[in-house]
Amino acid sequence: MVFKDYTFFSYVFLETIVILLTSHAHGAGLCDNSPNKQVCDSIVYTRTDPHDAVVAACHKLVYETKVAKVVAQSQPNSTEIYNCITKFDGSIVFAKYALNSLNVSQPLSSNAYLIAARANYKLCDEGFQNSGKTNPIAKSTKHLQDMASVGAYLATLISS
Ligand SMILES: *[C@@H]1O[C@H](CO)[C@@H](O)[C@H](O)[C@H]1NC(C)=O
Ligand SMILES: *[C@@H]1O[C@H](CO)[C@@H](O)[C@H](O)[C@H]1NC(C)=O
Repeated sequence: MVFKDYTFFSYVFLETIVILLTSHAHGAGLCDNSPNKQVCDSIVYTRTDPHDAVVAACHKLVYETKVAKVVAQSQPNSTEIYNCITKFDGSIVFAKYALNSLNVSQPLSSNAYLIAARANYKLCDEGFQNSGKTNPIAKSTKHLQDMASVGAYLATLISS
């Protein structure tokens, strides 16, 4: 169901490598080298264990995606908004897979699933761009993308 696009997966693979290469800095805080540091801080709080931080990020992502879905459902229906709702459902599944990957000690899979979740939020935006319309929920999808990036980054801090 979710593994249809091979180009997309090579993209995920490449991006995972890039994140790995850029993430080997050690500092006091988990968010020191994170993208969207402010979003990272709001997820991590006082946590110092990256595993716990990714669990928190995944739960928050699932919750916030459900909120965004409700907002999307309150919009007049259109091909674009319908696409967003479908993509959000996919992101929720990806975030849950990311959690499962952590449970079986596969932080790299967790990272890839969170990048996949982020790609789905982008696809929501792109649907609107392609038809020349303004995305009424662009703020939500931007925030969700930032959260997914943070979660994916935090997953690279887990030593497997
Ligand atoms: C919303 O629009 C999509 C695409 O046009 C359509 O497939 C779907 O059935 C519609 N949903 C509702 C609840 O009308
Ligand atoms: C992960 O494992 C914990 C502890 O065994 C369990 O409570 C939790 O439900 C599991 N989560 C998932 C997503 O499988």
